[in-house]
Amino acid sequence: MKTGLFISLEGPDGSGKSTQLTRIKSFLDEKGYSITVTREPGGTVIGEKIRRLVLDKEYAEMDNRAEALLYAAARAQHVTEVIKPALERGDVVICDRFIDSSIVYQGYGRNLGWQQVKEINEFAVAGCMPDLTFLFKLNPEIGKARIDAGERDRLESEENEFHQEVFRGYEEIEKLYPQRVIGIDAGGSVDDIHEKVIWHLDMILKEKYDT
Ligand code: TYD
Repeated sequence: MKTGLFISLEGPDGSGKSTQLTRIKSFLDEKGYSITVTREPGGTVIGEKIRRLVLDKEYAEMDNRAEALLYAAARAQHVTEVIKPALERGDVVICDRFIDSSIVYQGYGRNLGWQQVKEINEFAVAGCMPDLTFLFKLNPEIGKARIDAGERDRLESEENEFHQEVFRGYEEIEKLYPQRVIGIDAGGSVDDIHEKVIWHLDMILKEKYDT
């Protein structure tokens, strides 16, 4: 039975998610919560192999459906091996990207249709959905400019149009799931963004753990 709290972090490439993840982790550590920090694609040996495959610029020929299924496969493994057991132990799980990334990158960016991508991913996660999702909202052009051109992976190297579609997808997700998704303006300073995150997080932790 799931007793922990599942938090996913989402946003365009370069939105500062990873920096915020480190800050959230420190905050929860200080409060004494038992936490599991993980990321997608990856988080398991099989998942990290899939990560290398999907992000490698060498594979320009990768079919969009194959890409969507690979992300979903990595996710299924991740849920079974890492996320579910951690939630059953009662951990707070913080996951850098989860199902919404597939819906927006493959569903919107690759134009595969969000319904279909949602369906294959619902199969992959088998009911294990985040309780809460922080969506770091930043104009994708600003995000992309933050990543050094030489260091961009296969997805990050996509055209601006792709990234605009991804962002549009995120805005839709925020509208569709207002109970779960908390949009945070990621244009401010790291401290300001962190403060906003903590404000929401504190409330949710109080609700759940009565602390
Ligand atoms: P990563 O280096 O982890 O990017 P970031 O630091 O921005 O999270 O690379 C993950 C890339 O894979 C990123 O461009 C988003 C993309 N992605 C998908 O297209 N679909 C997915 O389901 C996931 C999890 C990631």
